[in-house]
Order: sequence, then structure tokens, then C-alpha cells
Amino acid sequence: MTTLGTPLSPSATRVMLLGSGELGKEVLIALQRLGVETIAVDRYENAPGQQVAHHARTITMSDPAQLKALIEAEKPMLVVPEIEAIATPMLQALEEAGVVRVIPTARAARLTMDREGIRRLAAETLGLPTSPYKFCDSLDELQAAIDDGIGYPCVVKPVMSSSGKGQSKIDGPADVQKAWDYAMAGGRVSHGRVIVEGFIDFDYEITLLTVRAMGDNGHVQTAFCEPIGHLQVSGDYVESWQPHPMAPAALEKAQSIAQAVTTDLGGQGLFGVELFVKGEQVWFSEVSPRPHDTGMVTMATQWQNEFELHARAILGLPVDTSLKSPGASAVIYGGVDAQGIVFDGVDQALRVPGVDLRLFGKPESFVKRRMGVALAHAADIDTARDRAREAASRVKPRRP
Ligand SMILES: Nc1ncnc2c1ncn2[C@@H]1O[C@H](COP(=O)(O)OP(=O)(O)OP(=O)(O)O)[C@@H](O)[C@H]1O
Ligand SMILES: [Mg+2]
Repeated sequence: MTTLGTPLSPSATRVMLLGSGELGKEVLIALQRLGVETIAVDRYENAPGQQVAHHARTITMSDPAQLKALIEAEKPMLVVPEIEAIATPMLQALEEAGVVRVIPTARAARLTMDREGIRRLAAETLGLPTSPYKFCDSLDELQAAIDDGIGYPCVVKPVMSSSGKGQSKIDGPADVQKAWDYAMAGGRVSHGRVIVEGFIDFDYEITLLTVRAMGDNGHVQTAFCEPIGHLQVSGDYVESWQPHPMAPAALEKAQSIAQAVTTDLGGQGLFGVELFVKGEQVWFSEVSPRPHDTGMVTMATQWQNEFELHARAILGLPVDTSLKSPGASAVIYGGVDAQGIVFDGVDQALRVPGVDLRLFGKPESFVKRRMGVALAHAADIDTARDRAREAASRVKPRRP
């Protein structure tokens, strides 16, 4: 049985979000709606989620001492990682000591914080189909890995990076040095390790949102959302839509891969399983043990969006993953490097039929920083994508 308390009282159910960007903000809103007392943590002040939480805390989450001190001071019932760059070994130690429960598990947070942990688990332990890959610590090792089997074209990524940072495709020998240098400049920590992956010439890629939530029988059960199709530019998502049509055999494989990896990671919560599909072939790419950026579309398409599903699952509540309407999302980039920007044309954007908007409230804009998203529902995917793109293009961020 789940019992929830009253926020800001001794009975409060307290939940701490580690990472309070646009995804954390929506999880916080979903928790607020259930009367959960929320603590929004980020590395900078006035992060989007901090603006809607009961408490805002600013620390360096990759620093184990700061993280430990904050968790011990706040004593949340649950710690919910919303980003990868966290001192996860410390979370694991605190979880093992019974100080806190980490969502979905501290082990899942640790394994998914870099590409090596999760790739080795998926490919080597679970035997799931993935692109061919090798980990390399130098340019020489990278060249050798390509020559000894990975081949061209291939993709190089720092083991610690997200949103396509430091990632590039290598089409031939002339690109190798450039890709190595780019990876060295783009990684989150500069210990210089990369993964090189054979390029998969997929027909399309999907995110399969997978929820592990308490079932009627008192056991955790796995539920799937409809597949989300998406378009990535330089490793960063620019558009997503749901449902993405799939051949039944491909969908079955996708679900069985998602089931295998999320069951191994365990715990309760929502996962974003990224998969490549070609005909009836499906490859596992990576998994986030938390809501996924491409899943923002579910704010327009599902009865319970991915953030509500995550909030419910982590609290031990039942979930409903069903679709409400086909829909799409389109990213609004900052377009300028400036603080406290303004957005022209919000009214024009909202005149597009079936459209809604989220402006994240980030204090600082960069040209390529995601500052908002346009959401659209429609009777079919093509119309929804047109609407979302049109609405996003009508929002014009500029210097104040
Ligand atoms: N081996 C591959 N073959 C073909 N395309 C790939 C491969 N690896 C990555 N990509 C493309 O690059 C995109 C980003 O790659 P990946 O998801 O590994 O990086 P990321 O930095 O974690 O991105 P994000 O944080 O946005 O999920 C993929 O969604 C896919 O479009
Ligand atoms: Mg990805």
C-alpha cells in the first residue's frame, strides 16, 4: 500500500530530483500534483525544475562529498537522478547503507552514466543485438579498432557525453584524427576514452518508453508506451512523434529487448530504451533509466505523460501507458547566446490548431540550447509533425 503525506508537514513524502532541467521540471510538477514535497537540485541557480519545487538546492552533483552531505541533510524518501553526470558510486554506497532509495536503482544510475557500463551489460551480459563496438583510449587504438573489424563508416563518441556532444561519424581514413580530436574536446570528463561503433544503416530509430510499476498482484510489472519515432541532428533530437508505425515482428523484438534490459536494471520507474530498426531487425542503442527527451511528445499524446508515469511508478502507484492521440514535438532552440531572453510570437505559435508549448524558463540561452518545445496532436502523424514544426518556427527567441 502506498501512503502519501502532506508537503511541508512532518508527514511529508519527500522526493529529491538530481537534475532539474526541462525533464526534471515536468517530473517535479507531476509529483507536486500528488502532494509530494519536492527538492530540486541542480548545478546552477534557477534551473527550470527549481522554479516549481518546494526547495531548490545548488551543488556540484558529480562531487561525492557534496552529494552525500545534501542527501544526509535533506533525508528524502527517494532520490531521483535526472541527469547522468552524478557521483553514482556515492549513491550506491548510500543506498547500500540504507540511507536512501535511488530510482530506479543506484546500480542502474551507475551503469548508464557512461556508455561502457550499459553497452557491456546489454551486449556481453544480456546478449542483446547492438552495433559492433570497441572502447579505445588513444588515436592509435581507435585506428586499430577500425582496421581490425569495425570498418567504415563508424561513429565515435566519448564514453561520458550526451546530446551528441563530441560525437561524429567517420566515413573514411581521412576523418579519424578529426573525430578523435572532436571527441576529446566534447567529453564530459577528459580522461579520453571513446566508444567506436559500426554505423547502423537503420530505416528509422525509436524510443520505447518502458515502465516498471507495481501491478495489482503486488509485483513489479513491465508496460510499454507506443513507440516514439524521432529525428536527430548532430546527435541531438529535433523532432519526435508517436506512435511510430512498426512491423509487428519488429515491435515484438523491440519490446523483448526493452524488457530484458529494464528487468536487469530493475527497480521502479520509467526508462527510455533507444533502438534502431531496419525491416524486422532491431538493435539496442542505449537506455535512460528516467524520462527521455524525445518522450516530451507524450505531453500531447498520452493520458499519462512520461513524467506522470515516472512519478506514479516510483511512488508505487499504478500506471496507464495508453495513447490519447497521435502527436508530435519540435524543439525550440535559443538561437542566441544571452541571459534572460524573450520569446516573440508565442501567440502566433498557439494559433496553429492542436498545438501547445512549453518554455522551460532557462536563465541563460545558447544558440544550440533547447529552450522550449512545441507539442501538437492531430488525427495522423504527418499533420501533427507539420503543426509542431510550424508552431516551433513561429516562436522567435531574441535578446531582451
Ligand atoms: N552506431 C550508430 N549507427 C548509426 N547511427 C548512430 C549510431 N550511434 C548513434 N547514432 C545516431 O546518433 C544519435 C545519438 O547517439 P546516442 O544516442 O548514442 O548519443 P547521445 O549523445 O547519448 O544522444 P542523446 O543524449 O541525445 O540520446 C542516435 O540517436 C542515432 O541517430
Ligand atoms: Mg541517445
